[in-house]
Amino acid sequence: PASTATLVLPVPTAAVAHAERVPTTRRYLMCEPRHFTVEYSINPWMDPTRPVDTALAVAQWNALVATYESLGHRVERIDPVDGLPDMVFAANSGTVIGGRVLGARFRAPQRAAEADHYRRWFLDHGYRDVVMPTRVNEAEGDLTWTGEVLLAGTGFRTDPAAHAEAQEALGVPVVSLSLVDPAYYHLDVALVVLSEATRARPAHIAYYPGAFSPGTRSALRRLYPDAVLATEADAACLGLNAVSDGRNVVLAAEATHLAAELEAHGYTPHPVDISELRKSGGGPKCCTMELRG
Ligand code: ARG
Repeated sequence: PASTATLVLPVPTAAVAHAERVPTTRRYLMCEPRHFTVEYSINPWMDPTRPVDTALAVAQWNALVATYESLGHRVERIDPVDGLPDMVFAANSGTVIGGRVLGARFRAPQRAAEADHYRRWFLDHGYRDVVMPTRVNEAEGDLTWTGEVLLAGTGFRTDPAAHAEAQEALGVPVVSLSLVDPAYYHLDVALVVLSEATRARPAHIAYYPGAFSPGTRSALRRLYPDAVLATEADAACLGLNAVSDGRNVVLAAEATHLAAELEAHGYTPHPVDISELRKSGGGPKCCTMELRG
């Protein structure tokens, strides 16, 4: 207890960390949820007897697009197709790194046709190097680029053999991670890259340990000792299904604890309302495929 006369100001560590979080401009591919419904159930979030407000889903999706654009990002659009209610989840239909595209192969027959609509979008938009997987591969739903390695989830959707295929097609090192909780059926509802690895420093991620097998949890601790550990409540509102540009993190509004944690680590949270898409098990990241290169 010092008097004000001798008070020593603490080192402003938060301000220093803040200055290090540098956003980079991104390009995203998104699909308006014009035909969005929950008419089948392929994950524990989907209850076809619970009503979905499609107009509200469209309004929430437009607000998400507006958030990205206000942050300086570019949003490309693919036309939605009637009869493919999950096509809004663009992240599941391709993994694009350095201009190379690895498409998708869905586990559920209800979603199978989405993959070819996205494949055609890539071909129509100048992508030369488009490979379609032979194994079940739900793209960025399970494949997360850290700037250095591709973290690859398996357990519910993407086949472990698809991980090796991704390494061959994209030419990047792959690290396999095992998901064990059906509520977190895709990697992108359990883990998010907050800032990508650069030559100067490793990637910074957040994840919910309870979504992973014990071996995967230790592997993640070794790889990312400085990760933000999300709580069950953060995960349960799909708070980890977030999109970061290295500084700004767009996430579900209910994820207030995670948002505060991110702020303490120098990020700027941008809460969005995703009530309707969550009825299908999706959040901001599911709706957002990143076009890298
Ligand atoms: N209803 C969709 C499914 O179960 C939701 C997909 C969400 N997308 C995601 N990237 N997690 O396939």
